[in-house]
Amino acid sequence: MNEPEITRPRRVRPRRLRRHKTLRNLVAETRVAPASLIVPHFVLPAERGREAIPSMPGVERLGRSDLLARVERDAGLGLRTVLLFGLTEEERKDASGSESRSPGAAVPAAVRELKRVFGDELAVITDVCLCAYTDHGHCGVLDRGTVDNDRSLAPLASMARVHGDAGADLVAPSDMMDGRVANIRDALDRHGLTDVGILSYAAKFASAFYGPFRDAAGSAPGEGDRRGYQLDPRNGREAVREALLDEEEGADILMVKPALAYLDVVHRVRQATRLPLAVYNVSGEYAAVKAAAERGWLDEPQVVRESLTAMRRAGADLIITYHARDAVEGGWLR
Ligand code: PBG
Repeated sequence: MNEPEITRPRRVRPRRLRRHKTLRNLVAETRVAPASLIVPHFVLPAERGREAIPSMPGVERLGRSDLLARVERDAGLGLRTVLLFGLTEEERKDASGSESRSPGAAVPAAVRELKRVFGDELAVITDVCLCAYTDHGHCGVLDRGTVDNDRSLAPLASMARVHGDAGADLVAPSDMMDGRVANIRDALDRHGLTDVGILSYAAKFASAFYGPFRDAAGSAPGEGDRRGYQLDPRNGREAVREALLDEEEGADILMVKPALAYLDVVHRVRQATRLPLAVYNVSGEYAAVKAAAERGWLDEPQVVRESLTAMRRAGADLIITYHARDAVEGGWLR
């Protein structure tokens, strides 16, 4: 009874390095730099225009001149890479998404403008997918209700070539057809676009977190869903297989998407490849944080910092995120 507590001498004290901020910063293993963030934009097929997207507060669809102004401001913050998604009028949509490979479409027009103004001070990446251009809203060409893989490859490759011709640094196929990376690589090379790179949405899961994006891009499938071509959320091993296939087919950068529910996949792909790895912090992840923050239920700056840091810690080199501007401007990453 009443024995004095035995306290062993503590030689090992991890808390020593957590004592103050300067020490914590000194030993921080992970940093999020503006240069590794990619800003997504929804581009209107018009010179001017700004349209709010209700489910993505703070994000707008932009006409070309408004996009230019936005990009200029972002570049001043050190945000020098954009990912462009194109919009098109309903009456221009058809079964094969012809507008996707028109040189006059929203994206190629914006790429030419951006490259004329910013040159190589800006890296321009373009999304390559048919869903915003087809009247049925699927990512490829339909054959009796299902997406026909092989017939979708040529239109996707033409779309990539049109973007390459316009001056895109990288094209980013997000359709999840088998063989699209090799097919796009060949099409680009045949047209002398050997320096245009491919950022492949290699492991893109069939996710409910894309909801707000489909409002933003007008790309929700009319019937059915995308489970016939996007990855099953239950499969991590298959995601690594997809990533390695895309590497073999000639991808320059691989991507995992969405981010937060798939950080294990990011980690596994990071172990499996030496290519740069991107992660897409998608629209639903953004909307959830925004909605909770608006209600005062979450501290937005801290949640964003923690989330982006976790993506880097899991192994992502690059992060595509709608939070980029707020995070850098607000000093949330410091
Ligand atoms: C097009 C595409 C989608 C996203 C990027 N490219 C939507 C989808 O596959 O339905 C989602 C991006 C986001 O949610 O922020 N295929």
